Amino acid sequence: MDRPALPPDLRRALEASVGSDHVVVDPDLLVAHERDWTGRFGGATPALVRPADTAQVAAVLAACTRAGVAVVPQGGNTGLVGGSVPRRGEVVVHLGRLQRLDVDAHAGRVVAGAGVTVARVQEAAAAAGWSYGVDLASRDSATVGGTVATNAGGIHVLRHGPTRSQVLGVEAVLADGRVVSHLGGLVKDNTGYDLAGLVCGSEGTLAVVTAACLRLVPALPVRTVALAGFADAPRAIRAAGRWRRAVSDLVAEELFFDDGLSLVCEQFGLPRPLRATHDAYVLVEAAAADDPTERLAEAVGADPEVGEVAVATDAGGAERLWRYREAHTEAINALGPPHKLDVTLPESALPAFVREVRDAVAHLAPDARTWLFGHVGDGNVHVNVTGLAPEDDRVDGAVLELVAAHGGSISAEHGIGVAKLDWLHLNRSPEELAVFRAVKGALDPDGTLNPGVLVPPG
Ligand code: MLT
Ligand code: ZN
Repeated sequence: MDRPALPPDLRRALEASVGSDHVVVDPDLLVAHERDWTGRFGGATPALVRPADTAQVAAVLAACTRAGVAVVPQGGNTGLVGGSVPRRGEVVVHLGRLQRLDVDAHAGRVVAGAGVTVARVQEAAAAAGWSYGVDLASRDSATVGGTVATNAGGIHVLRHGPTRSQVLGVEAVLADGRVVSHLGGLVKDNTGYDLAGLVCGSEGTLAVVTAACLRLVPALPVRTVALAGFADAPRAIRAAGRWRRAVSDLVAEELFFDDGLSLVCEQFGLPRPLRATHDAYVLVEAAAADDPTERLAEAVGADPEVGEVAVATDAGGAERLWRYREAHTEAINALGPPHKLDVTLPESALPAFVREVRDAVAHLAPDARTWLFGHVGDGNVHVNVTGLAPEDDRVDGAVLELVAAHGGSISAEHGIGVAKLDWLHLNRSPEELAVFRAVKGALDPDGTLNPGVLVPPG
């Protein structure tokens, strides 16, 4: 789309709020903020605004609402469902300058500004003798504001839950500029509506998150990682279920397949991790205050369905094994913008889904390729399909309908954004969607915040 112009009155109001250096209108500087990480979703913006603090965010939102111009909040722009980029000429409100970071080592919590990266929260937690319960491959770019707004998942959901489980309170700005703040951080605080829980996962449609109070979890300093190869997916999924029940130290449990592993090895020049080739692989990590290796070995080493296993008890070896899993995202993206369908299935339906989803894609798009990987410990499969036009969503519909038919969720951890909007009705009843619209209408009556995302039109 053509780049829309910023109304002169709005430009003056924004410059008065944040300073002219922080109202960016140079097209060369805007392009990086106009397309999502996958390359599938994007549009054009008249301006990127970079407020320095909560008061400036409030002034920016109030000015945009008064001018009738919609906004898209943006952090690290690592979202995967098209929810963090302008699609219809919205102003981008970039939260990168909100860098507050206050750790309470005694209470085990941190108040972090929206622009602080997940990696920085992890480092601050570690320095205070704690750990942050969320970890994900995009840790160096993904921010507190974005991960709270999208209720990001990641590799430790199995142990600590998603971002929503870490949030003790949020500070957020409504579309009219009012600030809603509850950062006291009390674990027991039963005083009515859970506004933090509502804003968390609202994908920037109800308020713009400016800070969050996050609980920290005890550090588990000794870790062991094992990568096991299996003859097929059902064997891998069954073993993963057994290990979850047997090993109380498990913090992550991931699944991938030989086609994905081969792609990663080719693209990054990595040696294959095991001597033989296996159809399916499960990577598990155990972490504890003492060495969990023996407890993990008892389960994995003794498992009758494991074909072959590699174990790493040192940090370097653990990183090397994790790379085979974490590099999937980049390796697949290098083939062209994928259709990313992040779904959860009940454990009992996973083996059938893994088989049927490949057939469903092949039937509709014989030239496309299906890549499967994900967090098997949460029943979460990342179905990635390459070789499709970005706007051709026939495969998306077929896959999400298959998920719903198996009793699964069409979004496990990435959110709805624009990518899943047309299929939200598969998981949410008309009554639930009416409540979504009522809440949106109450908090953002003019529709300033991230229009077209998450909330289907009535
Ligand atoms: C992952 O698990 O690696 C992330 O959710 C990113 C992705 O799905 O590609
Ligand atoms: Zn994931």
